[in-house]
Amino acid sequence: MKYVIGIDLGTSAVKILLVDQNGNVTQEVTKQYALIQEKPGYSEQRPEDWLEQTIAGLAELLEGFHGEVTAIEGISFSGQMHGLVLLDEQQNVLRPAILWNDTRTTAQCKQIYDKVGEARLLDITKNPALEGFTLPKLLWVKEHEPEIYARARTFVLPKDYVRYRLTGTLHMDYSDAAGTLLLDVANMNWSSELCDVLDIDVNLCPPLVGSHEEVGHVTEEMAEKTGLSSATRVFAGGADNACGAIGAGILSEGKTLCSIGTSGVVLSYEQEGTKEFGGKVHYFNHGAPEAYYTMGVTLAAGHSLSWFKDVFATDVSFDVLLSEVATVPVGSNGLLFTPYISGERSPHADAMIRGSFIGMDSRHERKDFVRAVMEGITFSLNESLEVFRQNGKEMDTIVSIGGGSKSSEWLQMQADIFQTPIVRPSSEQGPGMGAAMLAAFGCGWFASLQDCADSFLEMDEIYHPFQENVVKYKELFAIYQDVYGQTKQLNDSLSRYRM
Ligand code: XUL
Repeated sequence: MKYVIGIDLGTSAVKILLVDQNGNVTQEVTKQYALIQEKPGYSEQRPEDWLEQTIAGLAELLEGFHGEVTAIEGISFSGQMHGLVLLDEQQNVLRPAILWNDTRTTAQCKQIYDKVGEARLLDITKNPALEGFTLPKLLWVKEHEPEIYARARTFVLPKDYVRYRLTGTLHMDYSDAAGTLLLDVANMNWSSELCDVLDIDVNLCPPLVGSHEEVGHVTEEMAEKTGLSSATRVFAGGADNACGAIGAGILSEGKTLCSIGTSGVVLSYEQEGTKEFGGKVHYFNHGAPEAYYTMGVTLAAGHSLSWFKDVFATDVSFDVLLSEVATVPVGSNGLLFTPYISGERSPHADAMIRGSFIGMDSRHERKDFVRAVMEGITFSLNESLEVFRQNGKEMDTIVSIGGGSKSSEWLQMQADIFQTPIVRPSSEQGPGMGAAMLAAFGCGWFASLQDCADSFLEMDEIYHPFQENVVKYKELFAIYQDVYGQTKQLNDSLSRYRM
């Protein structure tokens, strides 16, 4: 039997999957690392921690592996997006990595708009300037830590650094490069225009590769530390959302993913890189060759529900809380929730907006609130799907993964609100599976990623929209869409009382 390894370098942990030629996960190891939050809005990690835990995880996996080590033919990566890792001339790390969820760069985002112009930025990068993206972080270091910036020779993203230490070669793949805000997304090259206008040396940008491309082998030193063979081929890998899409089979037009974890993502396959979404949703290069995807993000999806449970329902389990909503009718007895408890990203990029419960009534019970939270999260994701639809996207099926796919109530709600059949994978492995599939395709096991998906992935239940609910949810969604505009000013006024 032959094997590949998928390494998913997440924000709280690295998850390593050993996958055999039939697509079965035969071993799995997770190793955690710390988040450093020195000031409000700051979010950093030490690249050495990622490396240490990846090595420890690989060593543990190899210890439990009883086959021939050379049977592990390939490794690839999935990684948290946007994080800035700065390297000096000798490729030493210059400062802790500034992560995707760090929000210190509002002033730099404004600078980008002032110097480049919003329309031109959208032309080139297809995306708005958001605090989470890499370019504003680079400008922040340039302004606030000029001595570090002066020593920087390359910047990479989190998984690129770990892969560099494993192979000794430095690259970035298109799917992750798209989230830097320095890539010309349609033409798939670094934008020298943006670098010139913002006075950034284009040589800081690393060589670009495709996600399935081979970038080297495991070095002798790393083979010794991990137990891997130095003959193991290493493939570039991709952004976690791109790999999550590959791992859910989002590889052809019409295929769409809904992932409800801490944050929520809806993501749809795009063959072309030249459409216009006006920055309302993200538009990134896919990990599949010559392909793209559009993506909308609800910042507090599962987080809205865990917040509600932590504050108002500590006495029950999630399962009990979610099962109670079955007896609450569509529309939660007139209660509506907007999940903006940490601000919002798509389609309203607004760090200041906050959530609301509208329509509270003395007859409401806890279960009405829980259903309203679930409906609000799903409405928020539907706003991004509406942007896809307004641009001509047809979605035949939505694959639902994450915490949101664990409850049959929520799956039916997704079918009714999204007005699309919802399927759930029979065994969900997330972005690590997408990374393993990139390695399997890279090794030549399959002629295409689609062939690999056909062989590796299986879907089970399907939930069809229930027409009576669709009609009610259409009305409720129109009311939901009104709330953002109606509460924006109120939230701005309240913001000075936030501690
Ligand atoms: C995507 C994003 C997050 C991170 C999390 O734009 O910011 O999904 O990739 O890992």
